[in-house]
Amino acid sequence: MDALTGLPEATIIRDRESMEPFLRDESHLRGVPPLAVVQPRGAGALRELVRRAKAEGFGLVPRGAGTGKAGGCVPTEGTVVVDFSAWPGDIRVSPRDLCLSAPASAPLREVKAAAEAHGLFYPPDPNSWESCALGGTLATNAGGPNACKYGMTRHWVLSVDALLDDGELHTFGISSVKANAGPALGQLLIGSEGIFGFILGATLRLAPLPREYATLLLPVKRWEDLLDLPGRLSGAGFLPSAFEFFDPAVLAELRAHGPEEARRLPGEALAILEFDERGCTSEAFLEGLQDLLGPVADGLEIASDERQRQGIWAVRRLTSAFLKERHPGKVSEDIVVPRSRLRDFFEGLGRLGFPSVSYGHLGDGNLHVNLLAAGETDPAILDGQLMDLFRLAIRLGGTLSGEHGIGLAKRDAFLALSDPGHLHALRALKQALDPQNIFNPGKVI
Ligand code: MLT
Ligand code: ZN
Repeated sequence: MDALTGLPEATIIRDRESMEPFLRDESHLRGVPPLAVVQPRGAGALRELVRRAKAEGFGLVPRGAGTGKAGGCVPTEGTVVVDFSAWPGDIRVSPRDLCLSAPASAPLREVKAAAEAHGLFYPPDPNSWESCALGGTLATNAGGPNACKYGMTRHWVLSVDALLDDGELHTFGISSVKANAGPALGQLLIGSEGIFGFILGATLRLAPLPREYATLLLPVKRWEDLLDLPGRLSGAGFLPSAFEFFDPAVLAELRAHGPEEARRLPGEALAILEFDERGCTSEAFLEGLQDLLGPVADGLEIASDERQRQGIWAVRRLTSAFLKERHPGKVSEDIVVPRSRLRDFFEGLGRLGFPSVSYGHLGDGNLHVNLLAAGETDPAILDGQLMDLFRLAIRLGGTLSGEHGIGLAKRDAFLALSDPGHLHALRALKQALDPQNIFNPGKVI
């Protein structure tokens, strides 16, 4: 493609075979072949890319490690993929400012490890935390099990370095939790999925590293009994750092076909609860917890050491990939309902009448409803089922995406179901920040 000839500070990939891995993320979508894949290594490359994109009329699709779940980084017609994996920069921890700065290309695993090396904690923990890049987590405002206590990625971002449509890098925010000089524009970029500009790096807030964990495996006799627990726990003053669940169908499948460590999982349904505050392994704390959980539990196991804790988490972490391997055409959604409406949600889901299984983040109402037969379902019928699912979540005060974002996968549903005022404001922002629609065109709005 001539428009990229001589682009400075960048590697350009143009042959079809080498571009193939850039057509997909971890959603069920496959993009169209891009005009090229560009791996920028400096500001000069980005400045030129923006200039040429505007002059030649092609779009720019940002890509981190490609672990997204909504097709946000898959190329659409007439676009160049901008792969940030070679973007330079180091991870720098500043214990005195309780923060860390890192480039978009930094693996999240290394960001978390760098904080830990200083006795500090960066909580966001999407399921892909061992393979995703920081930039992708910022662009998608990634969640994960820890969100039920610590919130999502955006709650940990102090400042953002971003490329805007003038072709320059700008920093929004400062390295302090207190910054109130006008609206927080950096926050506008977090979770924007690259439609306003591209995130090149960030300064992240850190917390002291938890020193003890109480990790519990909670099997229940009647699965509905799990549904009131998140609300009852917070009502009694307990705030788990994670509260995950498997419904009876997911649990049965894991038990029958999962790895060795899943074969012994007890109960009709199962939850994993983790607490990380100081004192959470004390007798008094655990007794209080047992009083609350005892009446619904069908046996309760508490991890007695780090090896057992990791064993419990390993089963949860592999669930998505395990189900995908067994049902390659499945669609995994990530709706949210307020925790007080969990019971209403599952009653409503039953009434919708299509087969689904669920697991995920019960503690914050973020549920991975999986339609395992999606690959074999007529696309029009599948669309109808998904719309019914989203409408149910929204009717109960929730939303159609809790952590994966809109991207390409949920764009039509997002446009159909969002409040018109919300869409109007979003379009106005897009028009103001990216009037030529060069940044991730065709995504979100
Ligand atoms: C998870 O929590 O396992 C992930 O968000 C992936 C999924 O949608 O299954
Ligand atoms: Zn999840």
